[in-house]
Amino acid sequence: MREFGNLMGSLTAILFTIAFLNRPVKAINKMYGKKIAKTSFKGTFQSLMKFLVKNHKLFGALAATSALIHGAVKFSVYGFVASGFLTLTLIMLQGILGGYGFRKMKGKAGGWLKIHRLIPYLVFLSIFNHVVVKIFW
Ligand code: HEM
Ligand code: HEM
Repeated sequence: MREFGNLMGSLTAILFTIAFLNRPVKAINKMYGKKIAKTSFKGTFQSLMKFLVKNHKLFGALAATSALIHGAVKFSVYGFVASGFLTLTLIMLQGILGGYGFRKMKGKAGGWLKIHRLIPYLVFLSIFNHVVVKIFW
């Protein structure tokens, strides 16, 4: 169970990062899309971008699910762990905000998207704290 719990924690970090790639891949396309189009990398890059943008919500939802599973497994053994709860709260907030933006705002830019673009950086810092430095446990 401990191994499974750890696996779910690492899986969350991976899925969350894949969901996040939505932004850099679009930014690369905006800045270098024309240059890439002239290279043999064009097809690979475009399929990768399509895949990441199309499945963004799926990876986000899967990250939130594995975060909940990891959190529940670890909570049942260790009880309250501040750094873990902080990370989980931020990830759930990100998922809920994404759901709101998708359903109510139809994915169009707005205040929600600014926050949705910002939260991932806080999550990465929070994961780093939770797993490596543990400034608050
Ligand atoms: C209620 C929320 C959470 C609690 C109580 C919690 C608790 C813990 C604990 C106690 C450990 C040490 C594991 C051990 O040695 O048995 C751990 C490891 C870890 N946690 Fe969390 N955590 C939570 C949320 C999260 C979230 C949301 C992430 C998202 C990425 C995460 C990622 C990780 C990772 C990557 C590890 C290291 C796994 C390994 O050593 O292989 N945790 N967590
Ligand atoms: C939990 C992990 C998630 C991360 C790290 C994440 C990250 C991001 C980022 C960085 C953007 C900005 C893309 C850009 O600049 O164009 C974005 C956009 C968006 N996200 Fe998320 N998101 C997550 C989950 C979700 C979920 C669960 C949903 C919906 C159910 C969602 C819906 C959206 C929508 C509708 C957009 C705007 C349109 C688009 O780019 O597809 N996100 N997300």
